[in-house]
Amino acid sequence: MYEQVSHSLLNDILIRLNPEIKQQQIRHFYTRLGANFYSIHSLFQVLYGDRDDFEEQAQRLVETMARQYIVRSDQAKETDLEREKNHNWFLSQEWVGMAMYSDGFAGNLEGLITKLHYIQELGVNMIHIMPILQCPIGKSDGGYAVSDFRKVDDRFGDLDSLNLLSEDLKKRDILLTLDVIVNHTSNEHEWAKKARQGDKKYQDYYYVFDNREIPDMFEENMPEVFPETSPGNFTWDEEMQKWVMTVFNDYQMDLNYSNPAVFIEMLDIILFWANQGADIIRLDAVAFLWKKIGSTCQNEREAHLILQLMKDCCQVTAPGVLFIAEAIVAPVEITKYFGEDAINAKECEIAYNATYMSLLWDAVATKNTRLLYQGLKSIPDKLEGATWLNYIRCHDDIGLGFDDADIQAVGFEPAKHRRFLIDYYTGVYKDSIARGLPFGQNDKTGDARISGSLASLIGLQAALESADQDGIDKAVHHILLLNSMIMSFGGIPLLYYGDEIGSLNDCTYLNDENKANDSRWAHRPTIDWEKAELRHQPGTVEHRIFSAVKKMIAVRKEISAFSDFNNRELIQLDNPHLFAFSRFDLQRSSSGVLVVGNFDSRPQYLDLNVVSQTFKIQQGQIKDLFSGSTPALFKDQLVVPPYHFYWLSD
Ligand code: GLC
Repeated sequence: MYEQVSHSLLNDILIRLNPEIKQQQIRHFYTRLGANFYSIHSLFQVLYGDRDDFEEQAQRLVETMARQYIVRSDQAKETDLEREKNHNWFLSQEWVGMAMYSDGFAGNLEGLITKLHYIQELGVNMIHIMPILQCPIGKSDGGYAVSDFRKVDDRFGDLDSLNLLSEDLKKRDILLTLDVIVNHTSNEHEWAKKARQGDKKYQDYYYVFDNREIPDMFEENMPEVFPETSPGNFTWDEEMQKWVMTVFNDYQMDLNYSNPAVFIEMLDIILFWANQGADIIRLDAVAFLWKKIGSTCQNEREAHLILQLMKDCCQVTAPGVLFIAEAIVAPVEITKYFGEDAINAKECEIAYNATYMSLLWDAVATKNTRLLYQGLKSIPDKLEGATWLNYIRCHDDIGLGFDDADIQAVGFEPAKHRRFLIDYYTGVYKDSIARGLPFGQNDKTGDARISGSLASLIGLQAALESADQDGIDKAVHHILLLNSMIMSFGGIPLLYYGDEIGSLNDCTYLNDENKANDSRWAHRPTIDWEKAELRHQPGTVEHRIFSAVKKMIAVRKEISAFSDFNNRELIQLDNPHLFAFSRFDLQRSSSGVLVVGNFDSRPQYLDLNVVSQTFKIQQGQIKDLFSGSTPALFKDQLVVPPYHFYWLSD
């Protein structure tokens, strides 16, 4: 959009551009800058317009984008152009992701190159490598306490090994997702060290206070993220003799985005990784980017403006690169990370569907899908050009973040229901077969979250321990049921490494003093490649899970109705154990797919007359696309075996 104020500022900036930049032939850069500058200027103005150095900072912002564009590879620039033409490319059902620690998966980045055949064998074509940036040993929060944003940690390799990996991934058409930890740095980062030594410039990069007056005011409304290991949101720094804001661990210092220098530094870092071959950047902990006294310091409007500004700037330099919002917040808040008041996504194109994840675990524990339906109805529709990451497990704990009102609406008492879920998954509940561990217990609020691998939480560990064949069968079906739900829901399914072969909790973390107090390490496995070989041996658990997931991925890729264009309708059923939704292609030219899952341990039936309003089925011709066979029917009643799913079509 043309608007005089921003246009004249842009002219001034271009006149003053550094000669090194001026002499470059960067036509596409200027076209995109012109197209986005009105928006960039408006956002920058709202955030930083009252500063005397506003124009100087705007100049630095544009030069930062230009410098990163100049060093962007020709190959990446070509991909940018292709993706501009086919801008909905990532909404296709052809994408299937997997998140992994490179050391746990294959030792390091070079080891990962040697294991890409495994990922490809499964059909995964997008990988999220958990953070590989340099962190202090011990105080790393699994890679999320970064001490150098431009250096690959020696434990994983170096920039050359990452480049080798990225080239190999490109040849295999596998997308690369990398993390940028935008909310905080390690207290051993260079900026933090300077701040702690008393450098005022760098103290302004963080939130530092001489006494408890302001911290105490913040604390009145801020929840605690790690109440057991790092209570409170501020840490006394001996060296600086000041209080510093540390929302996560006491060694993770929150960055101060009300300082434009911080924004520009972090944008530069995002673009740096975009230039190292990342197709997608996962922006960590985005809900926390703006702090305001009197608020929870989560989901603030300015946090969204910062993300919109990051997106607008990234579109100028690296428009083919997508953002994932890691915002594990209330259902109504999550969709805002796609952008508000817009038709097309304008913040992050992808967001974790934490609501669906936790609701699926609710249905597993209760064998009942009422809250699953209710909770999903509370998620507002997505914008166009936006998609979910649907996942069962990830490297973090499972939070029970669904709405109290939804829990009440289905007849449960919120506190008791949450207590039941925690007790169920941590094996305290008497009939529980789950082998999870508590995480983040907060005695003040009664809150707790859950750690544990998919196989251990679902009952496979308990069944294997007692050599209970029936239990093993049930657990395998259950694992496949959950996989079928994330594969068909709409969005990119994100598997978690090890789950494809039924990895159990790994409790060796207890022997490491730096990990022992963080139960999330129980589900961050080191892959046992001998065990993984069993995927070729029929009859083994590894074979049963791996081969079925592999088949599911292959079938998903063939079903265009599984692409994500808001083309899903939930189908409300009388049977409280079943979950059903229909997926259709946009023209509704074919009959689409009816997805049905049975969360109960007994067979259930579905009355096809009930679904016939939303889903047209030709009697007698119904087929399960996954198995290729016709399911058992009695008249109009479809039989769904325990923990079974169907992808039905005619
Ligand atoms: C994100 C990460 C989590 C980490 C936290 C703090 O939520 O997923 O693992 O502990 O950020 O960096």
